[in-house]
Amino acid sequence: MSYDRVRATDPAVAEALSGERRRQEDTLAMIASENHVSAAVMAAQSSELTNKYAEGYPGERYYAGCDHADAVEDLAIERARELWGAEHVNVQPHSGTQANMGVYLAVLEPGDRILSLDLNHGGHLSHGHPANFAGQIYDVEQYEVDADTGYVDYEGLREQAEAFDPDVVVSGYSAYPREVDFERIQGVAESVDAHHLADIAHITGLVAAGVHPSPVGVADFVTGSTHKTIRAGRGGIIMCGEEHADDVDAAVFPGAQGGPLMHNIAGKAVGFAEALQPEFEQYAQQVVDNARALGDRLREHGFSLVSGGTDTHLVLIDLRPSHPDTPGGVAEAALEEVGVVLNKNTVPGETRSPFNPSGIRAGTPALTTRGFDEAACERVADVIARVVDAPEDEAVREEAAAEAAALCEEYPLYAGDARVTDTA
Ligand SMILES: Cc1ncc(COP(=O)(O)O)c(C=O)c1O
Repeated sequence: MSYDRVRATDPAVAEALSGERRRQEDTLAMIASENHVSAAVMAAQSSELTNKYAEGYPGERYYAGCDHADAVEDLAIERARELWGAEHVNVQPHSGTQANMGVYLAVLEPGDRILSLDLNHGGHLSHGHPANFAGQIYDVEQYEVDADTGYVDYEGLREQAEAFDPDVVVSGYSAYPREVDFERIQGVAESVDAHHLADIAHITGLVAAGVHPSPVGVADFVTGSTHKTIRAGRGGIIMCGEEHADDVDAAVFPGAQGGPLMHNIAGKAVGFAEALQPEFEQYAQQVVDNARALGDRLREHGFSLVSGGTDTHLVLIDLRPSHPDTPGGVAEAALEEVGVVLNKNTVPGETRSPFNPSGIRAGTPALTTRGFDEAACERVADVIARVVDAPEDEAVREEAAAEAAALCEEYPLYAGDARVTDTA
């Protein structure tokens, strides 16, 4: 995309936009929640729908002139229903967090109880962290992963649920590399008469492609982000059975939000159509194969992975056993210097501050979009190992940066896409 029009009125922003585009082209995006959407999704997101107010739902808007907005939202809903097999879909949440807020508002009163995974064990802020609205409005207890295996401690969860008597049990995580047993968590929720919210923010694409078991039709509510593994327009989504449809819709609008971001909903519709193509299944499978290859190679280099490996799109590295003097923040910064962009992350049994925790998290969705295969991911693992082994070593950094740059060149982002016309 050319930023000439932006440049004509706002050179400073144009420069930042061009810079960001170059950054994405010239570095390896390994933040597990990120991806690169297609030119079509991006074009839809920057369409004139950004101008439109469409409070309400298709066919029942509070404003005139909503025909095209209705068409787009109906398409997004229809495609989502096909992708995930959901009875009812709401595509209006502005983000994954807003989607969770929509579910809480639909079924909880202030002071009601949420049982969710601890942030340090892979949970998400919106599952009830004290710094988030959910932790401030609701009474939250958190469960953990098993200290030895790194897998969700399902038995501990059951015991905790019996003692705490929650109104909502949350499954689905931010930094959990293993398959989630949604059926088992549904059983726990049912046994204490709680609702089950499965937040598949990270794994929406893996679930849609059938490479991770689906909670749709199992959990009462399923929420997600639409810009992560599913690679659609930025935002959130809620899925549920018909019996909860009205409550969820009212909770999203007018409960939690005003006018929907119709341009993003257009991006969701386009991305969902892309994900319905058969190639998307191959993409999602490759994401997982790549994460396994990355993890296996890191283990060969002596790194310790939480849970010993991965079934998903990410690996969580606990640096303490292999690199006790290298906190996650130091590793993250050194890797960014050489063009590998991932994030520091807390790990189960965290002993450091969340600002410089003991782990790093690395995901393969964006690399796979660039065309990376297992062999390319092993080369990335070699780069990570070299840099984390010697984060201060200039010669190592130079060599690692050259290898990262070579990978970017071999697997160009948006290869051959007409969008890449801006040379500034
Ligand atoms: C499990 C989980 N839920 C919700 C969210 C929030 O999504 P958003 O950033 O779209 O609000 C995230 C973000 O990474 C997440 O990992």
